[in-house]
Amino acid sequence: MGAEEAVLSFLESNEEISDSGKFSATIGIDHNEIVNIIKSLHGFRLVDAQDIKREWWVLTDEGRSYTVAGSPEVQLFLAVPPEGIPREELQKKVDPTVFKIGCSQAIKNKWVEMGKGLVSRKVIDAKDIDELKRRKLIALQTWKGYSLRKGPNFAPKRVKAVTDLTREHLQKGDWKGLEFKDYNYNARGATLEAGHLHPLLKVREQFRKIFLQMGFEEMPTNNFVESSFWNFDALFQPQQHPARDSHDTFFLQDPSTTKQLPEDYVERVKHVHESGGHGSRGYGYEWKREEADKNLLRTHTTAVSSRMLYLLAQKPFSPRRYFSIDRVFRNEAVDRTHLAEFHQIEGLVCDRGLTLGDLIGVLHDFFARLGMSKLRFKPAYNPYTEPSMEIFSYHEGFKKWVEVGNSGMFRPEMLLPMGLPEDVSVIAWGLSLERPTMILYGIDNIRDLFGHKVDLGLIQTNPICRLGVQ
Ligand code: PHE
Repeated sequence: MGAEEAVLSFLESNEEISDSGKFSATIGIDHNEIVNIIKSLHGFRLVDAQDIKREWWVLTDEGRSYTVAGSPEVQLFLAVPPEGIPREELQKKVDPTVFKIGCSQAIKNKWVEMGKGLVSRKVIDAKDIDELKRRKLIALQTWKGYSLRKGPNFAPKRVKAVTDLTREHLQKGDWKGLEFKDYNYNARGATLEAGHLHPLLKVREQFRKIFLQMGFEEMPTNNFVESSFWNFDALFQPQQHPARDSHDTFFLQDPSTTKQLPEDYVERVKHVHESGGHGSRGYGYEWKREEADKNLLRTHTTAVSSRMLYLLAQKPFSPRRYFSIDRVFRNEAVDRTHLAEFHQIEGLVCDRGLTLGDLIGVLHDFFARLGMSKLRFKPAYNPYTEPSMEIFSYHEGFKKWVEVGNSGMFRPEMLLPMGLPEDVSVIAWGLSLERPTMILYGIDNIRDLFGHKVDLGLIQTNPICRLGVQ
């Protein structure tokens, strides 16, 4: 008979099980097993269980060794059974010295009593227990069990409550006879497995909002693979420029070259590189089509801008504000501030008669929306802009000027071959997405932000991003 059956059938014909310990001994089942069954039966209210606890003192190891090695009084005390023992018998039970010393000590300690030839244990009072406890000769032992009575849901056999109503139950119709488990409305639901936005995506979204608030349109950036032509040549970047070396740029092996380029525009680009025009002397070298055809992973989002401006130039001119935020690739040695891929944010305004003053003005507006109102500019060089300026912002936390971007006015050598009207200027600027994200999220190693070493915990718990004043 199983433990559960034993408990239930006993209770069916008896009022109670007064002591689960004794009960388990009678039926010969381990008490722990009975206890588990009782807990479960109590949970389903088939039985009512009351805790019972017994406590008694036992000799510790030290106490026991003491009884072996010496302390005649303890040996003597232990030799006296709870119901007492005649003196002569006790004398036979123990060593004569133990008997002699033990008797006098135990009597003195009031551990035993000697009356009419019968030696009996005295109830050890609390004081003695304290003393033995202090000497670590005894320890308290507890036993826990239950007394049981029938519970409100008592049944001689437990029917397992069903948790789910299934299609089969409905088909067979046996749901009518089933007992369903109650819903636990207090149970806490399992945490949802959901997607989480990476900090870069959160910051990107904020930048996107700022551009949209400023009336910029997003450019299509869905081509990581680009031709050298759009990435470099269209931007008046000479073919010998070191950035076009495989040490800096990832070139594609397959397909290694682009299939098509706008031929008449390619001719104009070749011409401006070789011999200039529109007041420029050009670079004076022999421009090679093979270089322009080479496919690469775009090294900057200015490739996106060059395609967009070319498209714009094919239609009657209308002023435009464009932006892009997407990934770029460079053949860099990876360290705590550089990865071989990162994201660029780029903005440009294309209109008649724009000046450097407009660029500075729009940069102030843009960066103020990010919470950076102190800006400084430093002359710089880019093959495609003139003048060019590095942008610095005063970082209140770091108490110093930090570089936040690069900017400039696109050169006529870039814009005029595209076919844009002579009086149209384009002001543009670019920055990385990683840099502000690292500052905002307090990350000082780029590898903790992006790539295979990123801690997923960061992705799951990073706070929302709010840039500047909105
Ligand atoms: N393309 C430049 C870079 O990669 C940024 C830039 C964009 C500079 C537009 C000037 C104008 O750093």
